[in-house]
Amino acid sequence: MNDAFRRQSGPFREGDRVQLTGPKGHLNTVTLEAGGEFHTHRGILQHDVVIGAPDASVVTSSNGVEYLAMRPLLTDFVMSMPRGAAIVYPKDAAQILAQADIFPGATVVEAGVGSGALSLWLLRAIGGTGVLHSFERRDEFADVAIGNVSAFLGARPANWTVTVGDLVESLPSAVEPGSVDRVVLDMLAPWECLDVTADALTPGGVLICYIATVTQLSRVAEALRRTGLFTEPQSSETMVRTWHVEGLAVRPDHRMIGHTGFLLTARRLAPGAIPPQLKRRPSKTDYSDADVEAWTPGALGERLPTDKSLRKTVREAHAAAKAAMSSDDDPEADVVADSVADSVADSVADSEEAPVAGAIPNPTDV
Ligand SMILES: C[S@@+](CC[C@H](N)C(=O)[O-])C[C@H]1O[C@@H](n2cnc3c(N)ncnc32)[C@H](O)[C@@H]1O
Repeated sequence: MNDAFRRQSGPFREGDRVQLTGPKGHLNTVTLEAGGEFHTHRGILQHDVVIGAPDASVVTSSNGVEYLAMRPLLTDFVMSMPRGAAIVYPKDAAQILAQADIFPGATVVEAGVGSGALSLWLLRAIGGTGVLHSFERRDEFADVAIGNVSAFLGARPANWTVTVGDLVESLPSAVEPGSVDRVVLDMLAPWECLDVTADALTPGGVLICYIATVTQLSRVAEALRRTGLFTEPQSSETMVRTWHVEGLAVRPDHRMIGHTGFLLTARRLAPGAIPPQLKRRPSKTDYSDADVEAWTPGALGERLPTDKSLRKTVREAHAAAKAAMSSDDDPEADVVADSVADSVADSVADSEEAPVAGAIPNPTDV
């Protein structure tokens, strides 16, 4: 058991981080020291009042102001810790743990380490018997991550290595081929790392990529298929909508985090294995006439207008044009309106030869 994993519950001790919530709901985080003081304009809170108290206790400052003292959860910590690079949000970290099937005792590779948010979730999931190898090409980010992980856990875990360098160059010398259970890629260009990832993963091992844009998602999916070394990739995104629940006012919150990233997972095939589905249906990395055909309105389930409904639309357009243009009692307007309606009818007649949904002319555009 790694000592670093001991500090997440029980009465407060020296060195623990504590979130103090005051009467107005403002939150301050302090690290407890024997004899330490937390100064506010509402008086002084002695750390010694907090040390030894149960988690989630109410403690009182010298002026009689009460604070709720709670140990930050991992979610609280990652959302407020110093950031070098953008972090993986808790909603996505939870999905990464589930979809990549991170288990106690697993050997996991992670790149890049960024601010260390995901490292903390991974370390927690693999427990003291697992190993996490993290790679980061920017040494200042690696330093931020090491600082954050050590601050939360109270020490730098013995089962965590941080290598400064590009994954493509560093991974082959850091792990034995086929020895890694899970690989987590959170970076701009995961497709550049697929070969080294495939070499490092054990057969059946899981690769998960966290990517921010659809263009990256498409690129990594196609690159992964081209290797022929993985199962068919699965893609998803996770949206969490919080709710306001108070009395009769029970509704979704007005604001939410709209987009963070996409997840793509695939499993490493055994050497030489070709899944039966792939034998039947070769992977398509380009689009053909058949693909384009699949986007026609009929194929998408949109109804094509029948000749009858098209004629009805023409009559309605005619009438609308006439009504609009006759409204100022200008006798010439009737003539113009008739000619507009004729143009509408001509356009529809043309389109009847090759009916296309959405080709019904708008009289105001004619
Ligand atoms: C979005 S951040 C990772 C955030 C991190 N997962 C977290 O939760 O805090 C992406 C990081 O990947 C690093 N990176 C990009 N490509 C890399 C590569 N090929 N090898 C190692 N690190 C890489 C970048 O320097 C950057 O710090």
